[in-house]
Amino acid sequence: MVMNNENNGSVLVIDDDPLTLNAVNVLLETHGFITFPCNDPESAIDIFRSFPFDVVLTDVNMPSVSGLELLEEIQGLQTEKPVIVMTAYAELNTAVRAINRGAFDFILKPFPPEYLINAIKKAVNYIRLREMEKNYKKDLENSVKHKTEELVNAFAKMKNMNIEVIQRLTKVTEYRDTDTGNHIARIGLYSRSLANALCMPGEFIDQIAFASSMHDIGKVGIPDRVLLKPGRLTDKEFEIMKTHTAIGSNILEGSSHCIIQMASSIALHHHERWDGTGYPGGLKGDEIPVEGMIVIIADQYDALRNRRPYKPPLGHEDVFRIITEGDGRTEPGHFHPDILNAFNEKAPEFNEIFNSLNNIEKYNELSLHSNAKGSDETCLRCSLPDEIKQPESGSLPMC
Ligand SMILES: [Fe+2]
Ligand SMILES: [Fe+2]
Repeated sequence: MVMNNENNGSVLVIDDDPLTLNAVNVLLETHGFITFPCNDPESAIDIFRSFPFDVVLTDVNMPSVSGLELLEEIQGLQTEKPVIVMTAYAELNTAVRAINRGAFDFILKPFPPEYLINAIKKAVNYIRLREMEKNYKKDLENSVKHKTEELVNAFAKMKNMNIEVIQRLTKVTEYRDTDTGNHIARIGLYSRSLANALCMPGEFIDQIAFASSMHDIGKVGIPDRVLLKPGRLTDKEFEIMKTHTAIGSNILEGSSHCIIQMASSIALHHHERWDGTGYPGGLKGDEIPVEGMIVIIADQYDALRNRRPYKPPLGHEDVFRIITEGDGRTEPGHFHPDILNAFNEKAPEFNEIFNSLNNIEKYNELSLHSNAKGSDETCLRCSLPDEIKQPESGSLPMC
């Protein structure tokens, strides 16, 4: 192979006639092409495989392997490299067959030098354009892939930010209330458990697990003298306390996001009772959204298990009896019958959730779950049974 300072393209020239081969070779080299003359058609394919020639120029009529057979073999290598066949006028039909089988061009022997040079230049331009097109397509695909990854990352960040905003929003309530943050975290887990037992759609289950944590957000609007009063509230104070439902709903209403919409409904309805004796609307039966009816059982169970200024904490069995049989203040008629059945089924899980999340240190671990990843700390969330876990960061349901 003779190298030339110019590189107008590389050509594998195959012809069993040494005179033609040499003449073509010299002609191409003087026009700046890199050439490889091959007078043994049987070794041509191996030579082609070993060097990425731009163009193959082959005689058609050769004793051992014909130009058409070479053309087929080259095409079998899944290459787009152009093949030009050289043929005598008498073999014109063969040349036409070669074109029909995918040859790039044919040249009738004897040919004027400029005719051959033009045919080779055209073939080199073709293959270079094809390669440019392929590279452009590849660059475009890489660029689209890169942009898609950026979008996915941005989307994941946005979802994580949504989760963080919800967690921080619920902390506002935590700071203003005698309830601990554990209460807020547990409500999400109890609600998820009940929604699961009710065979609610997966999207609803994920939504209520987050949305329920904001049920008491309206307590930020209740004066300290009422909210933090040790002991029972007077009737007047209780009326003020009741307004935390409407305040919470007002804070959250009007959102375009499904979780915040559900949170607004829960804030408003989590003290309504199935028998119509609840507040603020005194709604009855199916007038009350199901999410409100789920959270009231979750809230009631947790309130009874905890110490309050006006009552000691109760054990699981006592609380279970109060909710399912009543004690004069809490009555089974307060609850949606189907959700009460679900509570019956899931009561052991409620006890497990309460025992797992009954101190503030554990709650802080739960809140900081995502930060604890990768550290040696044991994450409380990970130690909970799968069916009662809150969704992972990033699995926040989107509207
Ligand atoms: Fe409440
Ligand atoms: Fe609550």
